[in-house]
Amino acid sequence: CGIVGVLGNHEAAPMLLDALKRLEYRGYDSAGLATVNDGRLDRRRAVGKLVNLSDLLVHQPLPGKAGIGHTRWATHGAPTRANAHPHRAGPVAVVHNGIIENFRELRADLAKAGFGHETDTDTETVALLTRRHMQEGMSAEDAARATIARLEGAYALLFLFAGEDDLLIAARKGSPLAVGHGKGEMFVGSDAIALAPMTDRITYLEEGDIAVITRAGATITDAGGRLANRPVKTIALDHARVDKGGHRHFMAKEIAEQPMVIGNALRHYLTEAGDDIRLPGDMPDLGQVERLVLVACGTAYYACLTAKYWFEQLAGLPVDVDIASEFRYREPPLAPGTLAIFVSQSGETADTLAALRYCRDRVAGIVAVVNVEESTIARASDLALPIHAGAEIGVASTKAFTCQLTVLLLLALRAARARGRMDAARLADLLSALRGLPATLNTALEIDAPVREVARDLSAARSTLFLGRGLMYPLALEGALKLKEISYIHAEAYASGELKHGPIALIDETLPVIVMAPCDALFDKTVSNMQEVMARGGRIVLVSDAEGVEAAGGGTFRAITMPVTDPVLAPILYALPAQLIAYHTAIAKGTDVDQPRNLAKSVTVE
Ligand code: G6P
Repeated sequence: CGIVGVLGNHEAAPMLLDALKRLEYRGYDSAGLATVNDGRLDRRRAVGKLVNLSDLLVHQPLPGKAGIGHTRWATHGAPTRANAHPHRAGPVAVVHNGIIENFRELRADLAKAGFGHETDTDTETVALLTRRHMQEGMSAEDAARATIARLEGAYALLFLFAGEDDLLIAARKGSPLAVGHGKGEMFVGSDAIALAPMTDRITYLEEGDIAVITRAGATITDAGGRLANRPVKTIALDHARVDKGGHRHFMAKEIAEQPMVIGNALRHYLTEAGDDIRLPGDMPDLGQVERLVLVACGTAYYACLTAKYWFEQLAGLPVDVDIASEFRYREPPLAPGTLAIFVSQSGETADTLAALRYCRDRVAGIVAVVNVEESTIARASDLALPIHAGAEIGVASTKAFTCQLTVLLLLALRAARARGRMDAARLADLLSALRGLPATLNTALEIDAPVREVARDLSAARSTLFLGRGLMYPLALEGALKLKEISYIHAEAYASGELKHGPIALIDETLPVIVMAPCDALFDKTVSNMQEVMARGGRIVLVSDAEGVEAAGGGTFRAITMPVTDPVLAPILYALPAQLIAYHTAIAKGTDVDQPRNLAKSVTVE
């Protein structure tokens, strides 16, 4: 899941380890390094966290100034040492992200030629094929090229060779890779974050590119084998800074950052006076669009589901929302006047990208709402709208979610005006409430103490139920997802009105029910649903404003009192308690908040 490479002037292993640490956030379950030292190729691999690999290196050091490293998130084959990267065949070591689809066929060919496999991985096939070409007399570079030419599937690959202290070969097809330029040193990483301490000068490889890298620089050829001139970009440091800023976890830091990053997003999308929405000139006219289709995975999908309520209620614009993995295979018919919007923090999620490609010739326009501006999804779209959340490291998405919501709400407001569904005064009201939102979020962060109490109780539960109505329904889904992801407690979310149609059978005194309900037009209905739960001994945690908590009357098990905001903005504000409940429950349970088991930050395989 994470790739790094170094051609340095110092020992490579510590640099590679540090770079891998910076990629830890992507999630992994084994790791390994290979170096070349005076021509000699060697490797070390370990299952589990990076500390296991660094312990191994203490006992069995890996000298050399050239090397490659990898953190693996198991897809095919268990997370064992044998399956960990780098994979090696004779003089070739390879690290790889993605999947080689035709590896079985290549493997059978190799077996016939006497090249037996030691593992079941597709990556070993790449190493063996390269070795075969070298045995046939090809140079390292020609062998790597000949191998790459035979591969089908999506991958990022990095090769290191015995006898070559000054050579790395990198290839990108479907999985991103960045080349870093130092002073007489060169680097490779899955993203710029990995390389931040070493360099801020980055070249992003394009689809089909192969880079032949020496300490003198990188020679890049494109998919057609032609020399390609790719720009060297200087990356803003705040995009690459990875520290916890005094917080115990990245997730805590990212939750606390939300007032600031939402402020950033607003600054980018509002006029200087803050009284109008400013979108890029090539943004399709939302007054003309006939229908929207919003597609994403995970948390980004819940941002889309929230946006459906906004676009439909405020702008009268019909919206279809779908999970990318379903959308891509369902072959949905798309009317020509449809605008497709893809939402992705990383911009690399394989299913979201495939859904985007499905839409390519079927819709009027494709817009991406992403956090990583250089990402594949951003580049495959007609227009990318960055959410300006800054690097998100915690695997469970927090600040990217609220920034996605902010950008999507601004689009809905623009659509509402363009379609004549909202007058200038109402828009001015909402923009003023939005400008005040960072301050309101800051106040809301003070709910930490009551949330801890709730979390203590939740941490003992085996299962929980989240309820919400209207705009709070998608948020209930997100709250349940957050809790599942980091505390491993089963959580389910229902639209409050649907409670009676099934889940009410679950209610007893062991099932905490978290109700997200600001005191809005639907509040009385939610109170009725709460009473149905309480009448059956259910324990309610009510998240509402002071008026709501008061109106709900006694009998609630616990209440978390929120500041007041315009009901339209409530999903952004109420994301905070949803995130904090999950965070503190995970702390109370002692789980790994930033790197929950089995999860990866960015899922670049199907
Ligand atoms: C993974 C992450 C989730 C994320 C989802 C979509 O499953 O663990 O937190 O919501 O991917 O990621 P994206 O980068 O496309 O927003």
